[in-house]
Amino acid sequence: MKEKLLECFKKMYGYDEGVSVYFAPGRVNLIGEHTDYNGGHVFPCALSIGTFAAVAKRDDDRIRFFSMNFEDRGIFETSLSDLVYSDEAGWTNYPKGVMWAFEGRGFKIPDGMDIVIYGNIPNGSGLSSSASLEVLTGFMLRDLFGFELTNQDLAIIGQYSENNFNGMNCGIMDQFASAMGKKDNAIFLDTATLEFEYAPVVLEGMKIVVTNSKVKHSLVDSAYNDRRSSCEKALLELQKVIDIKTLGDLTEEEFEKNRSAIPDTDRQKKARHAVYENQRTVKAFNALKAGDIEAFGKYMNESHISLRDDYDVSCPEIDLLVDEAWKIPEVLGSRITGGGFGGCTVSIVKDEAIDGFKEKLSASYKKAFDMEPEFYVVSIGDGPSKL
Ligand code: GLA
Repeated sequence: MKEKLLECFKKMYGYDEGVSVYFAPGRVNLIGEHTDYNGGHVFPCALSIGTFAAVAKRDDDRIRFFSMNFEDRGIFETSLSDLVYSDEAGWTNYPKGVMWAFEGRGFKIPDGMDIVIYGNIPNGSGLSSSASLEVLTGFMLRDLFGFELTNQDLAIIGQYSENNFNGMNCGIMDQFASAMGKKDNAIFLDTATLEFEYAPVVLEGMKIVVTNSKVKHSLVDSAYNDRRSSCEKALLELQKVIDIKTLGDLTEEEFEKNRSAIPDTDRQKKARHAVYENQRTVKAFNALKAGDIEAFGKYMNESHISLRDDYDVSCPEIDLLVDEAWKIPEVLGSRITGGGFGGCTVSIVKDEAIDGFKEKLSASYKKAFDMEPEFYVVSIGDGPSKL
C-alpha cells in the first residue's frame, strides 16, 4: 500500500523527496449505539482497513489534496490562511477541519503540505471513513510538526472539527476507536469520563461478520442531529424531577419511575433507547469478559430491536439483513451498527456457517431489493501508525 501511495504522489506532484506515509483505521461498533452523546458506554473496535496518506511539507503555505478514491475530482488547492468550510471542497473539508481545529487550539501549522489520500473502507458504509480521515490528519500533523498531543487528544480534536467545521454533531466514539484502537481488542469506553478498558475479543470458532447493505438514506446528518436534540430535550425534562447529568446516569428502573416527566411519547422512546442501550452495553461487556458469547449475542439482538423500534434509525434493507441472520441457528447475534439509516450490520457467526450466512442473506436481499450486499470478516486492528 505504501508503494502505491508513493507512486501516486510522484505522479501527481512530480517529486518524491521528504514524503511520509500514515494510516488510521475505521471502526465497527459491537454494541452501544447512540449512547456516546448521552454520557453512556460504547464498545467499538478498530478495523484493519482505514485511510492512508502520503504527505510532504512545502516551503509556502499552500495545501494540495488528491484522493486516489476520487481521481476524477483532481487536485484541490487551498492554503493555511483559507481553512473555511465550502461545499465545493467536498471530502477535503475533513482534513481542512482538523487543521482549522489545530490552529484554533494554538497549534500553529508552520508549513503547507502536498497530500495524497487513499481509503479502503467502502464508501458510505458507516464504518467511519470520515473519523479515520480526521484521526489520520491529526496524527500526521503531530508527526510532521512535533505537536505535543496524545492519541486521545487527536480523537477529541477530530470530533470537535466534525461538530464545528462539518456540522455533524457526532459523539466521540468513532474518532476514539480509530485513535485508540488495539489489535484483537474492543474498547469499552465511558463517554462521560473518557475512562476506558481494552477487552480482548476471544471468539472460539466464530467470527465477527460485517454486512454492508450498500444503502445510505438521504438526510442522515440532519436525522442524526434531530435524535441528538430529542435526547437533550428529554434530559432537561428529566432533570426537573431527578438529579442526573446525562441519560447515561439512569438505570432502567429509575427511567421507568421518572419517564412521565417527558411529555412527548416519541421523545420518551428516544430517551428510553439511550438509557436501556447504555445499561445493555455494560451487561454485554461483562458477558464478553466472562466468555459468555451467547449472552453477548442476545444483547446485540436487543440492541437492534431498540434501535429499530424506539430510536427509529433502521430501515427496511437493514431490517431484512438482520431478520435473515436471526433465522440462522449458528448466528449468535446480529444488529445494525453505526449511525444508522443504512450502512452495515454486525453479526457473530460460527465459522462453519459463514458461507451459508453469506448465501442466505445475499439471496433474500437480492429477492427483496435487487441488490447484492457485501460481507467482510472483521479483523480487529491497531490505531494510527506511520508506515
Ligand atoms: C455515528 C457517530 C457516533 C455515534 C454513532 C451511533 O457513527 O459518529 O458518534 O453516535 O453514530 O452510535
